Amino acid sequence: MTIHLKTAEDIEKMRIAGRLAGEVLDYITPFVNVGVTTAELDRLCHEYMVNKQGCIPAPLNYAPDGHVPYPKSICTSVNQVICHGIPNDKPLKNGDIVNLDITVIKDGYHGDTSRMFLVGDVTPQARRLVKTTFEAMWVGINCVKPGAHLGDIGYAIQRYAENAGYSVVQEFCGHGIGKNFHEEPQVLHYGRQGTGVELKPGMIFTIEPMINAGKRFIKIKSDGWTVETKDRSLSAQWEHMILVTETGHEVLTLSAGAPPRP
Ligand code: MF3
Ligand code: CO
Ligand code: CO
Repeated sequence: MTIHLKTAEDIEKMRIAGRLAGEVLDYITPFVNVGVTTAELDRLCHEYMVNKQGCIPAPLNYAPDGHVPYPKSICTSVNQVICHGIPNDKPLKNGDIVNLDITVIKDGYHGDTSRMFLVGDVTPQARRLVKTTFEAMWVGINCVKPGAHLGDIGYAIQRYAENAGYSVVQEFCGHGIGKNFHEEPQVLHYGRQGTGVELKPGMIFTIEPMINAGKRFIKIKSDGWTVETKDRSLSAQWEHMILVTETGHEVLTLSAGAPPRP
């Protein structure tokens, strides 16, 4: 197995897919309020991706080896849910934190990005977790340039999160992406400097740290998808898709409404 280096044409299409994924998050932002169900957010995003953007929602019926097909078009991970939460009919309540993870397919290419949302009045502790996770993602992104190693990214994220008193989920990671949703390499959010694959221009991968307020351990629910913290502590995640350029990197999933680089 090898890491696919993207051509100029691939990169142009990945820029489009990435921006479209970000624009779904821009679109859904005003709907993320107390009382809305995650199933309604899924319905709205599905409609927007299919009818406004002419995209395919990549999660719908996605069935990697060993998994039942994913039943919805987006992932909605609330509070202690780490990732892959399945939209349902439970309304969001005051104080919740929720990750919305969007992956579109446009013209055969994937765009994958996620953000955290604060629902109503969120405790200072939960806001600090969300903010620190956002910063940890950017600390990782800032490591990306030719000649750096994947381990540099993981090391930087882990150090930042653990210095804040949090833990890093190890069972799920960032990933190469392109014509496939998940391809090589795996991008761990922990590790040691100078280890792992050396970055080369034309690589495209996600950085999507999952940071827990408590311990790092996970539990997968009986639906086969939903990943929660074993200790029921809060978890946060942010995700961008990154291109390695000749001089550094380009973030492919920025859109008009994306929170700016800190
Ligand atoms: N979007 C997730 C990621 O960042 C993957 C979701 S897979 C799904 O890799 F099937 F749950 F949608
Ligand atoms: Co991803
Ligand atoms: Co994602």
